[in-house]
Amino acid sequence: MSDAAPSPQFVPVSAFDLVVFGAAGDLSLRKLIPSLFHRWRDNQIPAESKIIGASRTEMDDEAFRRLALESFRKFHPEEAIDDDEWANFAQQIFYAPLDAVSDGADWSRLTRLLAGGEDKQRVFYLALAPGLYGAVSANIAAAGIKSAGARIVLEKPIGTDSKSAQAINDAVGAVFEEDAIFRIDHYLGKETVQNLIVLRFMNSLFEPVWNANAIDHIEITVAESIGSGGRASYYDNAGALRDMVQNHLLQLLCLVAMEPPLDLSPDTVRDEKIKVLRALRPITRQNVRQATVRGQYAKGAADGEVAPSYAEELGAQSDTETFVAIKTNIDNWRWKGAPIYLRTGKRMQERRSEIIIQFKDVAHALVNDGTPLPPTRMVIRLQPDEGVRLLLVTKDPGPGGMRLRYVPLNLSYADAFKARYPDAYERLLMAVVRGDLALFMRRDESRRRGPGLTASLRRGRRMQRRSIPTPQARTVRRRRR
Ligand code: BG6
Repeated sequence: MSDAAPSPQFVPVSAFDLVVFGAAGDLSLRKLIPSLFHRWRDNQIPAESKIIGASRTEMDDEAFRRLALESFRKFHPEEAIDDDEWANFAQQIFYAPLDAVSDGADWSRLTRLLAGGEDKQRVFYLALAPGLYGAVSANIAAAGIKSAGARIVLEKPIGTDSKSAQAINDAVGAVFEEDAIFRIDHYLGKETVQNLIVLRFMNSLFEPVWNANAIDHIEITVAESIGSGGRASYYDNAGALRDMVQNHLLQLLCLVAMEPPLDLSPDTVRDEKIKVLRALRPITRQNVRQATVRGQYAKGAADGEVAPSYAEELGAQSDTETFVAIKTNIDNWRWKGAPIYLRTGKRMQERRSEIIIQFKDVAHALVNDGTPLPPTRMVIRLQPDEGVRLLLVTKDPGPGGMRLRYVPLNLSYADAFKARYPDAYERLLMAVVRGDLALFMRRDESRRRGPGLTASLRRGRRMQRRSIPTPQARTVRRRRR
């Protein structure tokens, strides 16, 4: 290993055909197609690969290509994109109008596009409502386009509770083997999230103090400044719990709290993550009031303008939470006594995702001037301004006696590495083509987590108007049982 910055390595993938169901939707146009464009631009996508959009909207290849380009420019205004370059990429994009859920739909256009490509890796990406996964899987099989080794990618949230999650997993599992099912959590594809494993287990400094003997508590925060945007109809059925907590935040929790895996093979890491989920203290009817807070953003200032309330964005009154904070515990040997706080919300003061490891107070203060020493804190910033800061008490230099200051040892990834941070979907899409399951959730992960948690939290329905200082919209609706 060298300390010089190596140039990025793009590991080639074999030729593939990727069918995106829900191709005219937000995820496809905002994330998937732009990510594929970036991989194409870096020469990672073989020329014989096809990207095939499928959705109910009637249009031809050209219209879909134009829509994809317009969306790229809208969602990535910072990136200049050349028409000729796009035209070259777009030759690999095709479109099939198709209602993949309905029984009598005409699959012939999609079937023709895939014909002859049986030797290529085939991937079906379901950028659809999870309730449709079973029907679409069955229709893929019935249309005879599930080639040997074909894979399917599922977006969260898989179901709304344990029963519906099981039903969806069973229906997809009736068509695809477990090792062909890629349950995506895009946080696992983030550079800084991957770095958590490296930071913890590839530096000898941390492991000896990574436990409740030395650590007082851990905070995991994913704050977003955006509101529900144009996704209110999806979001209102999910809320912060299903949209963020049961997937992204719990994945972060697992990576922060898990035992060292034997190696980085998919099942070894996933086995360790599962153990953390099993040890999570349940949230029950009895403790839900003490352990959780939920809220919804009201009208308030955002980026110098007045942003609408959640209800205004939705066009209706709703009980759905846009903010949630949870105090949880991992009841195992390593973490006994060190609580973990999970927080996430939309329309917060700033966009900031970070993990704070707060160490215990020093055993004995050498300077006793009545001011408590601030604790050592490690702040792992996932986005933006990615990096790690270790906040330490130091002596203020110069005369004047023992004057103390709290200053950070700062590792800024932006300064240390000049590389572009690829979008998580770029890595994850290529990982599906390669068949690398390490960055995806196994079925037992989706069973062990969300449902119990969300069910308990959702029992609390009574709402009170309270003020919580953190969100931009200062008056939020706070729920408690
Ligand atoms: C998605 C959620 O999974 O993650 C969105 O559905 C959320 O509501 C997004 O905004 C946050 O992702 P990121 O990568 O911007 O932190």
